[in-house]
Amino acid sequence: MDFAMTLWTPKLTDRTGALYRSIADTLAADIDAGKLAPGTRLPTHRELAERLGVTVGTVTRAYAEAERRGLIGGEVGRGTFVRSSGDTPSLSLEPERGEAGIAMDENWPPPLAEGEARRALDESFRKLRASKRWGPLLEYQTRAGFMPHRLAGARWIRRFGLDARPERIVICAGAQHAMEVAFGSITRPGDTVLTEALTYRGMKVLARRLHLRLHGLPMDGDGLRPDAFEAACRKGEAKTLYCLPNLQNPTGIVMPERRRREIAAMARTYGIAIVEDDVYGPLLEGAPPPLASFAPERTYFIAGTSKLLAPGLRIAYLLAPPKGMERMAERAWMSNWMAAPLMGEIAASWICGDIASRLVTRHRKEAAERMGLARKILGTFIPSGASDASYHLWLPLPHPWRGDAFAARARRNGVSVSPAESFAVGPVPCQSAIRVCLGQPRTQDQLTKGLRRLRETLREPAEAACGIV
Ligand SMILES: Cc1ncc(COP(=O)(O)O)c(C=O)c1O
Repeated sequence: MDFAMTLWTPKLTDRTGALYRSIADTLAADIDAGKLAPGTRLPTHRELAERLGVTVGTVTRAYAEAERRGLIGGEVGRGTFVRSSGDTPSLSLEPERGEAGIAMDENWPPPLAEGEARRALDESFRKLRASKRWGPLLEYQTRAGFMPHRLAGARWIRRFGLDARPERIVICAGAQHAMEVAFGSITRPGDTVLTEALTYRGMKVLARRLHLRLHGLPMDGDGLRPDAFEAACRKGEAKTLYCLPNLQNPTGIVMPERRRREIAAMARTYGIAIVEDDVYGPLLEGAPPPLASFAPERTYFIAGTSKLLAPGLRIAYLLAPPKGMERMAERAWMSNWMAAPLMGEIAASWICGDIASRLVTRHRKEAAERMGLARKILGTFIPSGASDASYHLWLPLPHPWRGDAFAARARRNGVSVSPAESFAVGPVPCQSAIRVCLGQPRTQDQLTKGLRRLRETLREPAEAACGIV
C-alpha cells in the first residue's frame, strides 16, 4: 500500500504550555481540519526537529503523546502514519495529571474517603485475624479460585438478579483480566467479534493483543440495534458478541429489557456467544435483567468490583455457562495463575459483611450528586436522556466541533476528556461527541472546576479552535 508523504510542519505560533504538547495539539487540529489525511506519513523525528528547531527528544515526546491519543501510529522501519478515526488507539494507561490540568478522561470512581477506607480495611483485617483461613490464603488455589471467594462472587452477582452458582464462577484479577479469560478461551486469532459501534477502549486493546477483528454495529438511543445484530449474525462471520447493556461505556446508555430479550433471542437463534460486561451495573437501582438471564447457556457475565468497591483490589467474578466453565478456569490459570487470594478475601469480606452494600449506596449518591453538578454547570449541553446514575457522561458537541479537535482544545484549557473517535470501532460514522468522566476528579470542588473549563470550551467558536478560517 502506498502512503502519501507530507512535509507537514506545524505552525506553533500563539501556543502556550509544553512544546511537545503544542506539537501534538497542532497535529490533532490539522488532522481534524483535513490537512492531514488518514494514512499520511509524517516526517521522521529528526526531520521535524530540524524544521522546527527543537530537539529530537521533543518531537519523540510529541509523537508519543499523539499516539497515546490515538491520532497516529508507527511501524518499525516504515515510519509514523496518521490513523483513521476507526483505528485502535493506544489505551491511555497514565492519564495526564498534575500541572493545573483536571483529568476527566478515564473512568475512575472517586476514591474512598480516608476514614471510610481505613474502617473497611480495619474490619477486613480484624475478621482475617479471627478467622482460620489466613493460612490457605497464602497458598496456591484451585484453578477457578478459592471456594469461599467464589461463594462471595455468587452473592455479589445475585445482586444483578442472576441465579449465580459458585461452581460456575472464576475469580479474575479485575474485569479486564476477566475479558481476557473469556475471549482468550472462546475465540481464536483472526476471529471477528461483534461490538457496539462505540465501545470500551480496553476491548480494542485486548482485540489487538489477541489478534481479533472487531466489527462495530450501529446503535440507537437504546443501545445496540437488533436489526444490525441480526444482519451481522446472518452473514455468519462472527460467533461472539461483546456488549455492555448497563451504563454503556462510553455512551451511558441503559438497554431496555425488551431490547435485551431480542438480542438474547437472536444470539440463541444464530448460535452466538455473548460476553456481557457489567462493571457499572450496581450503580443502577432497578436495572433491567442482564442478557445472561435470557441466554444463560451462552453468556459469559463479567461482574467487576473496581467501580463500586475499589479498583486496587483487582478482583472480578466471571460467571461462565456450564459448558464453558472448564476452559475459563484453565485460561485464568494459564494467564495469571490466580488473582491474589488476600485481595479476594478482602473483597469477599466486604461483600459478605455490610461494607459492599454501604459502598454501593455511597457511590449511587455520589454519582447522582456529580451528575447534578454537571447538569447545573453544563445545562442544555447535556442530552435529555442522560442517566443520573452514571459516572460517565456522553456529550454530543455543537456543530462543527469534532471530538478530537474539541478534546485537544479542552486540554489546552486545562481539562482532559476523551473524544468519540477513541471509542469507535470500524467504519461506522462517528458521532461528534466526547466522554466526560465525572468520577475521576478526586473531589466535587475539582469536578466543578473541570466542568466550568469544559463549559468555557463549549462556548468557544469551533472555527477558531480548529484553526479553520
Ligand atoms: C466497560 C469496562 N470493562 C472493564 C473495565 C476494567 O475494569 P477493571 O478495573 O476491573 O479491570 C472497565 C474499566 O474502565 C470498563 O469501563
